[in-house]
Amino acid sequence: MANFRLHCRLFSLAVFLFLFSFSLSFSHSQYDDDESDQNSPISRFQHYLRIKTAHPDPDYASAVSFLESQALEIGLHTKILEFVPGKPLLLVTWNGLNPSLPSILLNSHMDSVPAEPSKWLYPPFSAVRTSDGKIFARGSQDDKCIAIQYLEAIRNLRSRNFVPDRTIHISYVPDEEIGGFDGAAKFVLSKEFKELNVGFMMDEGQASPGDEFRVFYADRSPWGLIIRAEGTPGHGSRMYDNSAMENLMKSVEIISKFRESQFDMVKAGEAANSEVISVNPVFVNAGIPSPTGFVMNMQPSEAEAGFDLRIPPTADPDAIRRRIVEEWAPARRNLTSQIIEKGPIRDYLGRPLLTMTNDSNPWWSVFKTAISDAGGKLSRPEILASTTDARFMRQLAIPVLGFSPMSNTPILLHEHNEFLKDTVFLRGIKIYESIISALSSFVADASLHPTKKMGLVIAGPPETYHSVAADQNSQALLKHFQRILAIHNKPQSSGGLQWLALRRMKQKGFAAECEKLRENGEL
Ligand SMILES: *[C@@H]1O[C@H](CO)[C@@H](O)[C@H](O)[C@H]1NC(C)=O
Ligand SMILES: *[C@@H]1O[C@H](CO)[C@@H](O)[C@H](O)[C@H]1NC(C)=O
Repeated sequence: MANFRLHCRLFSLAVFLFLFSFSLSFSHSQYDDDESDQNSPISRFQHYLRIKTAHPDPDYASAVSFLESQALEIGLHTKILEFVPGKPLLLVTWNGLNPSLPSILLNSHMDSVPAEPSKWLYPPFSAVRTSDGKIFARGSQDDKCIAIQYLEAIRNLRSRNFVPDRTIHISYVPDEEIGGFDGAAKFVLSKEFKELNVGFMMDEGQASPGDEFRVFYADRSPWGLIIRAEGTPGHGSRMYDNSAMENLMKSVEIISKFRESQFDMVKAGEAANSEVISVNPVFVNAGIPSPTGFVMNMQPSEAEAGFDLRIPPTADPDAIRRRIVEEWAPARRNLTSQIIEKGPIRDYLGRPLLTMTNDSNPWWSVFKTAISDAGGKLSRPEILASTTDARFMRQLAIPVLGFSPMSNTPILLHEHNEFLKDTVFLRGIKIYESIISALSSFVADASLHPTKKMGLVIAGPPETYHSVAADQNSQALLKHFQRILAIHNKPQSSGGLQWLALRRMKQKGFAAECEKLRENGEL
């Protein structure tokens, strides 16, 4: 009996130890799963997320040091620029075969907005991955994801021996979240930037709750507007015309009507929030202070109000300036106005700061095709409601698209519990592989000899090259190429050479078509 009891005890002890060790290993896998695989894109993403780059005291040194070590490990070149002490900018470069072609610049800011840890499910810099794959961290969407995705995409392309025609640069910039004035704004004015000879740039975008990826072709320009009123002072009991407060209130009424007309367009579905001019009151300043508050029986001689304005590139800034002077703050009402322009509103040629998203912009077609080649869908191009560093590059008339490949993801930038799912992050790497290979292989450039435009080495008379070079669409290209083959009565010994040349175009759909041709013995 006693023996039996002892066995029972031993057995339950064993069960207990078994369960205990199981629970230990379970908790281990729940919290430290990534320790087991230090060498994965996810663990590198988590490492970067754990670097505290939130304002007001972003740790740029650690961010630069980590990103640089990653770039060097992949075999890329790096350079650290410092336009303002303590605010470094890391430039990463993958040299292309043809350095004379304008380069591709991929941009990402290293800083993030602050987070209030008490409002978060997990500490904002822990980068905890939950069992359903959500990686929680400040900056996971805005925009540390693209920072790592750029590098991981290049890592994969290099491991497949892909060679870019155009040089690809990545810029990791400081201070975007506080206006970019010590970061991107100084960068674009530097000789180092000029030397990059940037032809096309990609910058951050935003998450999309639906299946489609969002893409942004412009930002709205922020203006601060201060309206000051003067008027006759008087006793609080007197009714008279033209007091400062009356003049200011009249101004506020007119501005409110304008605001309503813009907002009505949004409510009626005629325009997106980011496509109208927004104007919102942000401060009112008036009254004569007293030890207990304000003097209540005096009508003051001065009053002012401040507004936040956001101007889409489709609006005419001069017309808004006229409207402010003539309607919102007319001198006849003893009103004056002051506009504080926070960033450029026109490019150096005086054109609106926007990137074309139609056939007039060949980069757009290359980008769009690259997304569909990777199995992605794009929603209608949008204007971003807020601002990014892209405006500084658009000011130099460089085409820039804002894009962060996050579909089926709630928009959580600057919010509590910002997260990105691991699967979404990993798919984004594939998307960038497609984008980077397509952009870096796109060599149609009017300044070049037609044979080099598509990176093709075709055996045949030069007059046939022009039609090939003029078309960037892969299906059309294929037809052109077939026509050339027909003209030449099928290739002789040059077939292998042509095949190699086609492979260099690295367009997935096209390569697959060529594969078929080759199988049929047509190539
Ligand atoms: C503007 O100020 C002038 C000079 O103080 C005054 O005579 C006039 O009545 C004021 N007009 C209005 C509309 O406030
Ligand atoms: C592209 O869009 C711009 C602006 O909407 C327009 O002016 C231009 O004609 C368009 N170009 C093409 C080729 O569609």
